[in-house]
Amino acid sequence: MELTADREPPPFLLRAPRHEDASAYAAFMSDPEVSIWLEDRCQRPIPFHHTQAFVLGEAWCRLAIECEGRFAGMAGLEDYDAANGVARFFVVVGDRALSNRGLGTAVARALVSRGFHELGLRKIVSNYLAPNVASRIVHARAGFSEEGVQRKVAWRRGEWVDQVLVSILREEWLGSAWRGQ
Ligand SMILES: CC(C)(COP(=O)(O)OP(=O)(O)OC[C@H]1O[C@@H](n2cnc3c(N)ncnc32)[C@H](O)[C@@H]1OP(=O)(O)O)[C@@H](O)C(=O)NCCC(=O)NCCS
Repeated sequence: MELTADREPPPFLLRAPRHEDASAYAAFMSDPEVSIWLEDRCQRPIPFHHTQAFVLGEAWCRLAIECEGRFAGMAGLEDYDAANGVARFFVVVGDRALSNRGLGTAVARALVSRGFHELGLRKIVSNYLAPNVASRIVHARAGFSEEGVQRKVAWRRGEWVDQVLVSILREEWLGSAWRGQ
């Protein structure tokens, strides 16, 4: 199902973060529907200077998502391991008016493409908490495969939940229908 269902995403661009994005991102993070499946540190109020540092601080590849003329979230490739050609993908579509319209999938494909075509990566890793169905679908549609499961690593909504580790290799991307996009 994840690989066949597809749609035209709303037009978007990935750009350098701007000063004003930090307050918009702070507002996204204060919405539990957005933050619930993110890291433990996002489950309590985040000091604004932490958000500013995340949005505006120096990073290897951390970009603002702009969609329909407004800031919609953040995405990137982090934890760059130059020796092994590996980085970790993340995406947060914080503007819920844009949810479930194909944006997360399109952003994931764009970043995977950039990672392999422009940044010379060999492998891109990622992870998501198991109940995060939207994230599972986005990763599958972008070509990630499951590597394994870390059992019961995070407490969410009254229970311990698993974290799923996924990755995509350069050769898998080059052989996929989405290469070059
Ligand atoms: C996960 C996230 C990036 C998805 O972005 P998105 O733009 O909504 O993703 P897409 O529209 O490309 O795909 C989502 C798919 O999941 C489906 N979906 C969402 N919630 C679902 C649920 N509870 N059950 C079943 N399917 C669900 C959507 O319907 C859509 O599938 P469709 O195209 O067949 O309708 C976004 O929700 C987000 O940023 N969430 C908060 C932060 C987060 O969890 N980031 C990922 C951390 S690993």
